[in-house]
Amino acid sequence: MTDLSEKILHRVSQSEPISTLELSKQFQEDHQKIIGALKSIQAHGDLLVAEPQSDKFIELTEEGKLIVETGSHEAKIYNAVPDDGIPQSDLMKIPNAKVGFSKAMSAGWIVMDKNGAAPVIKKKVHKIVDTVQANLKLILSGHAAQIADSVKQEYKKRKLIQEVVQKSFLLSKGRDFSLTLTKLETDLTADMLVSGNWKNLSFKEYNFDALGTPLDCGYLHPLLKVRFEFRQIFLEMGFSEMPTNNYVENSFWNFDALFQPQQHPARDAHDTFFVSDPKISTKFPEEYKERVKEVHSKGGYGSIGYRYDWKIEEAQKNLLRTHTTANSARMLYKLAQQKQFKPTKLFSIDKVFRNETLDATHLAEFCQVEGVIADYDVTLGDLIGVFAEFFKKLGITELEFKPAYNPYTEPSMEIFCFHNGLGKWIELGNSGMFRPEMLLAMGLPENVRVIAWGLSLERPTMIKYGLTNIRDLVGPKVDLEMVQRSPICRLDK
Ligand code: PHE
Repeated sequence: MTDLSEKILHRVSQSEPISTLELSKQFQEDHQKIIGALKSIQAHGDLLVAEPQSDKFIELTEEGKLIVETGSHEAKIYNAVPDDGIPQSDLMKIPNAKVGFSKAMSAGWIVMDKNGAAPVIKKKVHKIVDTVQANLKLILSGHAAQIADSVKQEYKKRKLIQEVVQKSFLLSKGRDFSLTLTKLETDLTADMLVSGNWKNLSFKEYNFDALGTPLDCGYLHPLLKVRFEFRQIFLEMGFSEMPTNNYVENSFWNFDALFQPQQHPARDAHDTFFVSDPKISTKFPEEYKERVKEVHSKGGYGSIGYRYDWKIEEAQKNLLRTHTTANSARMLYKLAQQKQFKPTKLFSIDKVFRNETLDATHLAEFCQVEGVIADYDVTLGDLIGVFAEFFKKLGITELEFKPAYNPYTEPSMEIFCFHNGLGKWIELGNSGMFRPEMLLAMGLPENVRVIAWGLSLERPTMIKYGLTNIRDLVGPKVDLEMVQRSPICRLDK
């Protein structure tokens, strides 16, 4: 590199100004190498003035290069036509026949004879000149200027040539020009200070723009960071974490316990991944199971139920849980079994699975953030109040609610927030008060109400990290450098 740098300095001293492209040609070195050497000269001070320049060039595409070697598509078509003609269908078998055919037709080189059963192509002229090939040869040899602009325009459209912009520098002597590079000191040592020699030395300038070396360690995925934030918020608000270490659940806890009828479309294989091995679960709390059956088929607790024939076979089917509300149901049932009911706040953040059509915002698995509060006489007002506090801690203050439907909550609300970056209202999650058909069947006291909500972890993460495609966040196409590059901490709250 130093060799090359000094060669450059010599050449500039002989014939300034000179372009780096010219140097690359003269030294027969890659232009990028010349630029590298220039950068290292510049690190030694103002030896050179480098004026940035950009030039446009015309270059042949791969297709253009092929034509230079073997002729244009139209010439190939013409040459493939024997003197007594050829059926069009045979002619069209040669590569690039479509373009070649239409160009050869409009050039008047060939004609179509439609008198027979199938069209036959015949030569119309005895000799052709392949001007496309000739012109591309001219361009290749650096004589593009001899060709009319309209012709070049046409070749560009045909993707035979392309314009490239070449960035380079025009070099001339700078304030501190010298023919040699003195080695720059990078360290100021004790010896230099003691001897006073530092006064005679040149020091390398600090590069304040240099990036730090990437740390050779693991990096947390953005999802894990946002998961940590959510967890922290729940813990600050006095919630405790539910166990969610079972991706495989059965229909009973995922649906039946939540008063979701057995004919509900969400219980279809189109929406749910059922597990084939083991196909069913067999252990259920016997009395509770009977009460669930009763409330579905006949009603109770002031409800008329759904009035259908509830079948254990349907409830036994194993599946990949479609929501962590299945875990909430298990926890609420457990809570109802305690002698004395204790107001409880629970949360979980874990994976759920849905048989979705995949697109930019949907995956077949995602993480659900779920919060549940069970207490005497809590109301919808409490739910809204908790949201205000919960989302404020995330930096979200503008909330709106829309009435919604869930089989297990009444009333239900969708939660929206105003997204400043996008300038619109976006959906955050879903919420509601669990139905008495669900809670009373579990055995919870009459005046205990349970408010709950669920949202995805991916959505707020995408918003916070400015991603628009979920596949950039999770899945096989994730760029691992995205994980490394994303900030260690964000100050956006
Ligand atoms: N289970 C709901 C969902 O999957 C979220 C939710 C949880 C709604 C609790 C209401 C109450 O979207």
